[in-house]
Amino acid sequence: MTLTIDRLSLHADGVAHGPEGTVHVAMVLPGEEVEGEVEAGRIAAPRILTPSADRVKPPCPHYRACGGCVLQHGSDGFVAGWKASVVLNALAQRGIEATVARVETSPEFSRRRATLAGRRTKKGTLVGFHARASDTLVEVPGCRILRPELLAMVPALQEATALGASRKGEIAFALTLSEAGVEIAAKGGKDMDPALFEALAGLARRHDLARLSWGEETVAARRPAQQVFGRARVTPPPGAFLQATAEGEAALVGFVRQAVGKAARVADLFAGCGTFALPLAETAEVHAVEGEAAMLAALDRGWREAQGLKRVTHEARDLFRRPLLPDEIGRFDAVVIDPPRAGAEAQIGEIAASRLGRLVHVSCNPVTFARDARRLLDAGFSLEELIVVDQFRWSAHVELAARFERR
Ligand SMILES: C[S@@+](CC[C@H](N)C(=O)[O-])C[C@H]1O[C@@H](n2cnc3c(N)ncnc32)[C@H](O)[C@@H]1O
Repeated sequence: MTLTIDRLSLHADGVAHGPEGTVHVAMVLPGEEVEGEVEAGRIAAPRILTPSADRVKPPCPHYRACGGCVLQHGSDGFVAGWKASVVLNALAQRGIEATVARVETSPEFSRRRATLAGRRTKKGTLVGFHARASDTLVEVPGCRILRPELLAMVPALQEATALGASRKGEIAFALTLSEAGVEIAAKGGKDMDPALFEALAGLARRHDLARLSWGEETVAARRPAQQVFGRARVTPPPGAFLQATAEGEAALVGFVRQAVGKAARVADLFAGCGTFALPLAETAEVHAVEGEAAMLAALDRGWREAQGLKRVTHEARDLFRRPLLPDEIGRFDAVVIDPPRAGAEAQIGEIAASRLGRLVHVSCNPVTFARDARRLLDAGFSLEELIVVDQFRWSAHVELAARFERR
């Protein structure tokens, strides 16, 4: 069947209109004419008849098989424009008109946090990313996303898989690059026993890991796996949230600092380990609220050990069930909010009902962001500034930051 690609879906699949309805097409661009066999509403291996002017040769040798990237066949300009359009379309669906001031894309080889999978095979072990639309694994020695320090850990992950993967199970290795080297948090391996502990501790030494944890157990903490947030050094708990690239974090922190401006009292909601709270404490008193007590303990320690910061208080609180109420919000000149993908419906409802003047919203989901933005606009806020920050280049993932002011 020959089809013309109309647009890309939120998963960056091509969408075309066939005689029997919508057809999804893998690895194509809008405007391209393609042909291929339709199976269950999808062309998995299209032949490109008329390539788009935005089509480029995918730089990664694993691109066809690996499920990590979905947009390497588009030029940088196309990908940036598409990500901006995803945000603008989500807002338009809620009746909101906006412009994206800029798209800040992290460079190649910049991911400092990633999860690779490891599995035992008949021949030994296999460590890599999941293949496209499949649960098989693809080795990725030529990956153009990961920081070289992370890619250099593949031999360590192969060893850990040989030592600790059950016969049919898969281990998820969350890798994070810290100031003190790489830390690995493994989940899904065999239950710990003394022999495994000793072997893994030896592996951590040989590969000079900063820290290695296995399930809930810390096997080796050889050096504090610190991250630098402004003037503070923080040691997050194993596997804790961290912005995916240093460049993405810098873009977000830069935007948040500027958007918060001269506010003297700031609340940082969904604060994590202090990515925003600690840099903001250079100029403002900050109240950091977050669901995970261990992350807040790390934030607090980082603040206490840093020099020259204003007061940072913290509160462990489930912001879905117990959002800050209008009276509490009234204590702040500005609020920063950075919720998970589900958004912050309950908290945004309370902010809408409060007298807050300035909200800085960081989001990893344009759809829930647009829902929450609608609520804010209906309550008298205006959307003053919007940027897209692309830390997951070549994936369909879209992140953004926005400043809202009460009119
Ligand atoms: C996108 S991360 C942002 C973290 C931090 N702002 C940063 O940039 O590093 C979202 C954070 O929300 C926290 N979180 C998730 N659900 C929550 C809830 N119901 N209440 C409070 N915090 C929650 C997570 O633990 C995580 O730290």
